[in-house]
Amino acid sequence: MNMPAGAAQKEWDRVRKEAAHCRNCHLYRYATQTVFGEGSVRSSVILVGEQPGNQEDLKGLPFVGPAGGILNRALAEAGIDRGKAYVTNAVKHFKFARRGKIRLHQKPNAQEIGACNPWLSLERSIIRPKLVVAMGATAVYAVFGKTMPIGRNRGRILDLDATSKGLITIHPSYLLRMDEEDKPREYAKFVSDLRLIAPFVRARRKAA
Ligand code: URA
Repeated sequence: MNMPAGAAQKEWDRVRKEAAHCRNCHLYRYATQTVFGEGSVRSSVILVGEQPGNQEDLKGLPFVGPAGGILNRALAEAGIDRGKAYVTNAVKHFKFARRGKIRLHQKPNAQEIGACNPWLSLERSIIRPKLVVAMGATAVYAVFGKTMPIGRNRGRILDLDATSKGLITIHPSYLLRMDEEDKPREYAKFVSDLRLIAPFVRARRKAA
């Protein structure tokens, strides 16, 4: 049963404040801050990425760097208003290695993903989305609780739990790293995956 909007917002505020002091794993020691999810608690769709990048770590918001730029463009092309979705990450602290002045992204391991999973579970239980979109392998592991090949599972609506469906697609930063000649084709596939979100997006959900 969905919480009334006011109660859900209050609970979300409480959980976000608690997550700001998270010590579930060692990553808090090096990151600037916890980057919690962003969006309405009434969203019917949660988009899950891997972890904040350099810019997200500094700004305290998910997907505001280069990967966020691709995500915004692809969502718009798929006819989805990002403002109607809730955007978050599997891991809420930036994991990186220092190379001089540069902080290089490092992939979170299973232990770090597991340590952070209670926050994602709380976001899911407060928002009760109709659809959870896992972007990339880390998000797939965090959302589905197991590794699943992206190529074989992407682009179709999957059963996830009693109240939500799941959708698997690539992580938008995959597009940043690939050869220029392959980009248009892979980007089009990403947009086509995201088009499956549209039926789940609604402006507002009625309180139960
Ligand atoms: N990559 C992610 O997975 N999440 C962000 O917020 C930014 C980049």
